[in-house]
Amino acid sequence: MDSFSKNLWRLISLNARMVKNYSTEQIPPPQREANPQVSVHPLALEEGLVIVDVDDDEGALPVIVRLYLWLIRMLSPWDDRLAPWSSVEEAREGLKVFEPLLPKGEVAWADVDSDLALWRWVSEGYGAHRLERVGPKAVEEEKGGFVCRFDFMSRFAVRKGFVPFGGDAYFDARGRVTRIRFGSQDMRPGDAGWAAARFRFRSSSLVWGQLADHFGRSHYHIVNAVLVSTTRHLPKAHPLRRFLKPFLFRTGAANNFASRLLFSKNGFFHRTLAFSWEGLHAALKRAFAEQRMEPFDAELHRKGIHPTELPEGIELPYVVEALAFWELIFRFVNDLLENSPAIQASLTDVATEEWWDGLGGEFNQGRRLEEGLADVLANFLFTLTAYHAQVQNAETYLRDPRFASVRLGEGQVMADRTSNLGLATLLSAVGIPSPLINGDLSPHMPDEGAKAAARRFRQALQELSVAMDRRNAARVLPYRMLEPARVATSITV
Ligand SMILES: [Fe+2]
Repeated sequence: MDSFSKNLWRLISLNARMVKNYSTEQIPPPQREANPQVSVHPLALEEGLVIVDVDDDEGALPVIVRLYLWLIRMLSPWDDRLAPWSSVEEAREGLKVFEPLLPKGEVAWADVDSDLALWRWVSEGYGAHRLERVGPKAVEEEKGGFVCRFDFMSRFAVRKGFVPFGGDAYFDARGRVTRIRFGSQDMRPGDAGWAAARFRFRSSSLVWGQLADHFGRSHYHIVNAVLVSTTRHLPKAHPLRRFLKPFLFRTGAANNFASRLLFSKNGFFHRTLAFSWEGLHAALKRAFAEQRMEPFDAELHRKGIHPTELPEGIELPYVVEALAFWELIFRFVNDLLENSPAIQASLTDVATEEWWDGLGGEFNQGRRLEEGLADVLANFLFTLTAYHAQVQNAETYLRDPRFASVRLGEGQVMADRTSNLGLATLLSAVGIPSPLINGDLSPHMPDEGAKAAARRFRQALQELSVAMDRRNAARVLPYRMLEPARVATSITV
């Protein structure tokens, strides 16, 4: 392990010993009064994005932690040697030190690297949230088929000794991979270097999933906007603030810590991924620019992968389960708005109006609050629960070095050990327990109507668990990322 990761590991292990484990009902009520002047800082590399410095529960990041992070960024020597693991066994041995903190892998893939496994990667694995249908101009063998695109990543400069990320993987209407396109060159099954092409594609998917989908979309898009506006404008006793509290628990602390650790110059992403500073800057610009607020079912239709429009015999497990989750969240939000007099009465007060305006046009889309609130709340809840669960849980792909690497050399087919251990360090923080979405939310709700809606939501989650088990029993591999018993109530890491 390089010295930066070693020092980070010390900090994460210490934090894991100190952090208190809360159940959903034990989440504290709102702690701090609204503060329009709350201290904020811009996210490095993305100056339009504001991060609050003070978390409702944990306050500001202790000076000693900020100093420690600064010191390890500035003083740790860089390790840019490219040294892939020599075998799966060696990688497993190397990752043992993280086991006490790493989340247990969701599902063990017996077949990691084959053409069939590549379809699994894009239908239920870490590429599943990026899959879309090919357009009408598709070549004959790919008509009605699918594509998962990362070739745009080849534009982002990497440091000396590494090769750029990239690759658009195409599949026919039955889910068989036809080619992976790099620039103007197609690699096809059976070609020399085909295994390395698959590895490069999956590695690009892993890196983009962490940058754009995990942090860009889950942590720093709508969830951060709601967090910032809530901190600034909603008083402690406000019904909307009370409703939002369990879903924002520790998110201020998580986003603040991540901004200082991951996105700074000489920070985690700069050192662990292959990008140069300019390359990382360009990648982050694209990662944030591609975010949009859109209902999840509309997103599936836009991509042509809604279950109602798929070719016969194709099942996309991530889409099926995420859509079920989305529908349940949408019902909960509407139930709440219809049945909570306290929330209804608060919608016309000045604080709510300021909160709504404070979200910004990207989120309220210039609509009046009554027209757009259900949409915003449903997007917010879905992003921080189900979507975050899909994109955060990369540890399954860390555990076998044949899956992917976050930096690449020519022809590589095994993860680089330094970056693999660095990623293991970061993902160890994910193992710290969080309150779960299937817990009891009703104590946090502002009136009897809202409490009853929360109880119906909990009941619906239980029914969803049963339905997921039933669907999983019929699948070759169970898809378990979105099981309600694994999904957190808020983004705490
Ligand atoms: Fe996260």
